[in-house]
Amino acid sequence: MDGGNQTWVSEFILFGLSQSHGFQVLLFVMFLILYLFIVSGNIIIIVLITTDHHLHSPMYFLLANLSFVDMWLSSVTTPKMVSDFLRESKTISFTGCMSQVFFAHCIAAGEMVLLVVMAYDRYVAICKPLHYFTIMNLRRCSGLVLVSWTTGFIHAMSHLVVIVELPFCGPKEIDSFFCDMPLVIKLACMDSHDLDILMNADCGVVAVTCFTLLLISYTYILITVHQSSKSGASKALSTCSAHITVVMIFFVPCIFIYVWPLNIIWLDKFLAVFYSVFTPLLNPAIYTLRNKEMKNAMIRFISNYLGPKENS
Ligand SMILES: *[C@@H]1O[C@H](CO)[C@@H](O)[C@H](O)[C@H]1NC(C)=O
Repeated sequence: MDGGNQTWVSEFILFGLSQSHGFQVLLFVMFLILYLFIVSGNIIIIVLITTDHHLHSPMYFLLANLSFVDMWLSSVTTPKMVSDFLRESKTISFTGCMSQVFFAHCIAAGEMVLLVVMAYDRYVAICKPLHYFTIMNLRRCSGLVLVSWTTGFIHAMSHLVVIVELPFCGPKEIDSFFCDMPLVIKLACMDSHDLDILMNADCGVVAVTCFTLLLISYTYILITVHQSSKSGASKALSTCSAHITVVMIFFVPCIFIYVWPLNIIWLDKFLAVFYSVFTPLLNPAIYTLRNKEMKNAMIRFISNYLGPKENS
């Protein structure tokens, strides 16, 4: 492992999504447009929530945080993938590769915990409505957001310290469009099977813990909604169904990556694209289009800043 005159890999080669030139040009256009939608959609949500005082409540602060996280989740892999579509040799430096592993795990784990925090917020709002503003005060809300980032950071650090120490001495082809951790581990010049299982288990523990907590809070919420009056219930149910949709979109693919890996290359690539592009795109769409408050805020924003000025 510590042979003095071995050559170490300084860059990796990505295979990308496709080998065909024409198809890659099509993919370039498609993913560029999707990425612009992701960035602008999520920025619009953040701007709406921070500028509109009607939306200054924990639920919307958390939603703004989710948009922020989604935007960065996509930015870890998508810009590189998009520019690589037009490149003949798709290389990534060792540092670039390690950063992708680190940030992808940091942000994804942070987002999972954030989804739990959002579920907890809904649980308090629906099951303990009278105490909502004392329980979910701004300090606790910020504290919980901090917890989600800290968890993501620790989780990603635990991967980074292992992976930068691996001996990369020869093979450097990665059959994906970014440095996906299991694929990087396979390139190490050592028997990495146990390490691979350990790393997957690490991700699996985070995912299963978060998913269990989510199931518990939504079960409580649904039971409470079921027992309460019809009118309040339908509003609560519509908010929660948006949350549950996002949770499903996030966690169901996760099961096939970590808990029950199928090891089918096209499926793995599809799931990776799903996480980098479709999740960050769907979250803002689901929350804004289904949420009346967000739609009203959008209308107010447009008439305030872009519409004709009436009283000036
Ligand atoms: C995230 O949540 C915190 C705490 O509620 C809030 O102060 C902050 O503005 C939010 N961040 C964004 C980007 O909206």
